[in-house]
Amino acid sequence: MSAHPVIVAIDGPSGTGKSSTSKAVAARLGMGYLDTGAQYRAITWWMLSNGVDVNDPAAVAAVAGKPEIVSGTDPLAPTITVDGTDVAGPIRTAEVTGAVSAVSAVPAVRTRITELQRGIAAGAPAGIVVEGRDIGTTVLPGADVKIFLTADPEARAARRSGELRGTAPGAPDLAATREALIKRDAADSGRTTSPLAKADDATELDTTELTLEQVISWVIGVVEDAGRKQ
Ligand code: DC
Repeated sequence: MSAHPVIVAIDGPSGTGKSSTSKAVAARLGMGYLDTGAQYRAITWWMLSNGVDVNDPAAVAAVAGKPEIVSGTDPLAPTITVDGTDVAGPIRTAEVTGAVSAVSAVPAVRTRITELQRGIAAGAPAGIVVEGRDIGTTVLPGADVKIFLTADPEARAARRSGELRGTAPGAPDLAATREALIKRDAADSGRTTSPLAKADDATELDTTELTLEQVISWVIGVVEDAGRKQ
């Protein structure tokens, strides 16, 4: 496709099909996959587990460098550990979801996690699909392909609610999921340091009316087109 390993940045709010799409695209194209939301969730989990007041930015910043977060980038079996502990399950609890926006708004946290992400992307021999909120704008502004996925809040809440019912016991209902999702989007879009935003040169796709398979095919088309132009 190109002389260097291809880097694909996929950004957007939650419930747009970002994770499922990114994983599938990476698997089909033989690339690595990085879920950057999982890294912010992992550092949040560590803060909560260590009694750090997540609503005190100074307290969070003071220990932001402490936990060792390691992400495995196989799209068929992505992993995430904190100080050697597998946290793939614990990072999806409502407690972590409720605290992650506050923790990820702290500049020291973003600097730390951004460095980690850049290192992983630079070391991916077969290229990588990196999904998040600020990948195309801040983390990897030179990415070969930048995609921004959107969907209306109803569709996103329905998808999130369905996912949660599949994974989390006692998952909240649709209305509660919708409310939490809108609140989290507002916090993620409104923060000062690298907010959720579409890069000027990103290609946007509204996934509201599309199936997952349609979104995957569209992204693969964009990646292949970019490869042909290189
Ligand atoms: O994708 P997710 O819902 O697992 O992400 C969890 C949170 O992490 C999200 O509310 C905002 C934050 N996040 C971020 O600030 N920057 C990223 N690149 C990815 C996620």
